[in-house]
Amino acid sequence: MTGPDTLTIRRPDDWHAHLRDGAMLNAVAPYTARQFGRAIVMPNLVPPVTTADLAAAYRDRITAAVPAEMGFTPLMTAYLTDKTDPDDIARGYGDGVFAAAKLYPAGATTNSDSGVTGVANIHGVLERMEEIGMPLLVHGEVTDPAVDVFDREHVFIHRVMEPMLDRFPGLKVVFEHITTSAAVDFVRSRGPRVGATITVHHLMINRTDIFRGGVHPHLYCLPIAKREQHRLALREAATSGEAQFFLGTDTAPHAVSAKEAACGCAGIFSAPCAVELYAQVFDEECALDKLEAFASLNGPAFYGLKPASETVTLVRDPWTVPEHVAVDGGASVKPFLAGMTIPWRIMD
Ligand code: DOR
Ligand code: ZN
Repeated sequence: MTGPDTLTIRRPDDWHAHLRDGAMLNAVAPYTARQFGRAIVMPNLVPPVTTADLAAAYRDRITAAVPAEMGFTPLMTAYLTDKTDPDDIARGYGDGVFAAAKLYPAGATTNSDSGVTGVANIHGVLERMEEIGMPLLVHGEVTDPAVDVFDREHVFIHRVMEPMLDRFPGLKVVFEHITTSAAVDFVRSRGPRVGATITVHHLMINRTDIFRGGVHPHLYCLPIAKREQHRLALREAATSGEAQFFLGTDTAPHAVSAKEAACGCAGIFSAPCAVELYAQVFDEECALDKLEAFASLNGPAFYGLKPASETVTLVRDPWTVPEHVAVDGGASVKPFLAGMTIPWRIMD
């Protein structure tokens, strides 16, 4: 491989992370903090983070789980339900507790049972968010059981996303963890008030990889990886440097026992190696010069925040992703690409 052997960029942020709670939070949060200055923390705990008070308490637990010298700032999100109070959301945003609110269609994914059963139920909340400039983060998959799991994002665009954007023309929306070329095209067609996060696993695997030689539960996530043509479209978008696309790992740890089960749960734990793998992808695409825009500049600009002032240096120096991360109490979590040797490393 040609190209530089070191790359210094402003410290990246993760615009989509699941940090969980309790022993799992303590085990995984330092991995995110090692790589990222800030992370948008998803609110799908049990019970979900539905109010500003719950979010402030959760923020304090996250801060306590990360050594202060790591300089990590969690950015909190509100879990929208059919009953969300627009005043509480607006107050939380005004007070700086909430950075955004998350729309989970009820039943779409892990711990989404209390999510929104129809966008009409949150029109009042969306109207208020539009007024105050608060971003809406969207898990973009329909839950209609008649729709094939590989089509749920594509169908969501037409059934839900388009009408919602038309009804709220000033609402800032992040289409989270996009997985299809249709979503890439759609985001581009809607201009700067619509952004999208792209995970590193969706840049690296397609749906065939999930079944290559047997079922790989640690490659199962939602939205599920799609065909190769979609992976290539995501690579093109991420490495374009365009302002609408930014880094969001969707790191989603689950105990190995919950993944390697008769009904294994969705989620890929990429926090131990995410920035390094994004660097690998950008390197493979001869686009290392675009990594800083994707990882460190486009996200803050979308959220109206300053980019980091500190920098990190990536170096081409192979290392092996750990097989497991231990959780107090005996559980363990398997990272994405556990046991694989990968080319880039973050310099400590
Ligand atoms: O794979 C996923 N895991 N997708 C989601 O949307 C949620 C996440 C989780 O919380 O485990
Ligand atoms: Zn997620």
